[in-house]
Amino acid sequence: MSSYALKKHSPHDYIFKQELGHGSYSTVYKAVDKKNLKKCFAIKVCSKRHIIKENKVKYVTIEKNVLNSLGRENHPGIIKLYYTFHDQDNLYFVLSYAINGELLQLLHKMKTFNEVWSIHFCAQIIDALEFIHSKGIIHRDLKPENILLDKNSNLMITDFGAAYIQKNNDNKENITTKSNGSHPCLVNTNSSFVGTAEYVSPELLLYNHSGYGSDIWALGCMIFQFLEGLPPFRGENELKTFEKIVALEYKWSDQFKISSLVKDLVRKILTVNPQDRITLSEIKKHSWLNLVDWDNKQKIWSSVWN
Ligand code: ADE
Repeated sequence: MSSYALKKHSPHDYIFKQELGHGSYSTVYKAVDKKNLKKCFAIKVCSKRHIIKENKVKYVTIEKNVLNSLGRENHPGIIKLYYTFHDQDNLYFVLSYAINGELLQLLHKMKTFNEVWSIHFCAQIIDALEFIHSKGIIHRDLKPENILLDKNSNLMITDFGAAYIQKNNDNKENITTKSNGSHPCLVNTNSSFVGTAEYVSPELLLYNHSGYGSDIWALGCMIFQFLEGLPPFRGENELKTFEKIVALEYKWSDQFKISSLVKDLVRKILTVNPQDRITLSEIKKHSWLNLVDWDNKQKIWSSVWN
């Protein structure tokens, strides 16, 4: 039986449009498929020279492996990786295009989200996070810039370059129990911090370890930010922010009418000791989210809206 080599994708298959965003080693562009002009993608372009110079090979490899392993099941809350290819200068990730951009942009436009919207977004993040954790993956850089919105305001988590894959995924129980799977942290070789200061967990700062609970910590910071407009821990510089995180120094302003229910949930998430932190399955049972129908994802939105 004869076999055929599969045709390789190349940047020439696409018409590159405007820049959608850029990270420390990549730029994301909107792109249209030349063979089907109605098909839009977001293509993440990573310069090989830059990746090698900045020692980021590990991060692009992790991102590709994680997206490939998560992508098989097509979870609606995770960005889809269609193809990867490379040419002499760049690596390319062909991703789903999220027409409504970053959640952070929407938050900046709206200033704050009301509790109905916050519940809607929070429920979707929990649903996606539960799936990610069930595959033994910790995202480790969750923040509103890394959450994208599709045409129906449904969320997609992106940017898995800082993720950690548990070697043998034997601790799915960590999602539901207090024993968080810990592992060496995200501090790079010259000891400068990798990640985003405002959302980093105290266990990473104090013990150089993070686990599934570190993603839950970031979720707590985001719930606060949805309602207040800014994340809970903010200093003039990264060091001051870190000091506030480990001292649990955050305060709700009296500016907005925020329910005591959500304050209770955020308090249970923002605990310095990850062993005492509420788990995803406990969060799902919290009264603030009791309008969410967890067994019917289609109804997450209608249940909070009606
Ligand atoms: N910005 C970064 N990634 C994006 C994507 N996949 N879709 C839309 N905007 C983005």
